[in-house]
Parts: sequence; C-alpha cells; structure tokens
Amino acid sequence: MKPTTAPEEIAERPMQAAPHNDGIGEEDNAIPFWFNASFLATIVFAIVYVIYYVVMGWTSRGQYEAEVAAAEAIAAVARADQPSVNPYHGDTAAIAEGQQVFTQICAACHKPDASGLVGPSLVDPYWKYGHTDAELFQTVMEGRPGGMPAWGAQLGSEKVWRALAYLETLTAADSPGVGAPGYVPPPPAPPPGS
Ligand code: HEC
Repeated sequence: MKPTTAPEEIAERPMQAAPHNDGIGEEDNAIPFWFNASFLATIVFAIVYVIYYVVMGWTSRGQYEAEVAAAEAIAAVARADQPSVNPYHGDTAAIAEGQQVFTQICAACHKPDASGLVGPSLVDPYWKYGHTDAELFQTVMEGRPGGMPAWGAQLGSEKVWRALAYLETLTAADSPGVGAPGYVPPPPAPPPGS
C-alpha cells in the first residue's frame, strides 16, 4: 500500500498534521544551538587553518623541525662542556663505582660481562655508533634509536663516565680497553655461510 503520509515528509512543511505511527512521529524542531555553533566553528577553523597553512606557510612538520633544532642547540652546548676523553681512565675508585652502575643498570640488557643480551655486546670489535670516549658518552647519555635508553637525566655525566671507565676494564685483561688509545679491534669474523 502506498503510504498516505508521504507528502508530509518533506522537511520544510509544517508537521502538525503528521500522524504518529506506533507512538513515533516526526517533529519540526529548531536545530539546536550547539549544533549550529559547532558547524560554524568548523568553518571558522578552516579559514584560520587555510591562512596559517597556505598563506603563512605554517606546517606541523616545520614546527617539529624548529623544536628539534632548538633541542639540538641545547644538547650541543651541554656536550661542549664535556671532556672528550674519559676523565676516569684507570682511576680505581671511579671504576669500582662504575661497576656498581653497570651491574645495576646496564647489565640487565648488556649482561654483567657486557657480552650482550637484549643490547649488543660491548666487548666485541663491532661498534654501530663508534667507540671513542665522546661517542660512547653520547650513546649512553642520549640513547640510541634501536632501544638504547638515554641515561643522562637519571645518572648524570659523572656516573656515565665512571660506568664507561669500568666498561673499558672488561676487555683490558688481554687488550687495551675498548675505546682506549691503542685499542686494535680483532679482524672481523667471516660472514655466516661462507
Ligand atoms: C633497556 C635495555 C638497555 C639498557 C638498560 C642499556 N642498554 Fe645499552 N643498548 C641497548 C640496545 C638495544 C642497544 C642497541 C641500540 C641500537 O642499535 O640503536 C644499546 C647500545 C649501546 C651502546 C652502543 C653499542 C654500539 O655498537 O655502538 C653502548 C655503548 C651501550 N648501549 C652502553 C650501555 C650502558 C653503559 C648502559 C648502562 C648505563 C646501557 N647501555 C644500558 C639496550 C640497553
């Protein structure tokens, strides 16, 4: 059967005559204020956004890069204050403290003898980020993307230098410490399967 109420469904018509079916009817209420307000807000946002993004050239990427550059500048100043050679080379007391730090913190990922677990071995000849004192210091202070956390904030530079002074001693028995002047890495192993 063709619904007799069809013409009444046209939105702009007054709805008074529309019959209620099963207690459900269509009213012709005014659009709520909050709805119109949020609709207008999206238009205002779009205009402001176009002005910023298209006319003024603002981008979130640019904002990010500016923040990274600012952080880099601060980090560079902090780095410049640091000695580039470990001040605790061979300092027995400092090395003992460094050993505590190493076993408490680093050993969880690098193993107590630094031969590697979740983190890579620190006593083999392979270095992803270099093994000069300055490079090792930067690795530990600022962390590395492959899962090495930054320890600078928690340990401070003194403890990091001491932990690195201890790290050198782990290979010192049969060779100059890793990162020490005169350390000669053993020849690389042949690639697997050759
Ligand atoms: C949560 C686990 C974890 C802890 C704790 C940790 N490391 Fe690491 N470390 C890693 C991982 C994973 C990498 C490899 C990072 C990469 O390849 O980008 C790494 C890399 C390194 C490297 C660079 C090795 C290379 O080949 O260049 C050094 C040096 C290092 N860690 C020293 C330390 C020291 C010192 C401590 C203690 C203060 C420490 N790590 C604590 C996980 C850890």
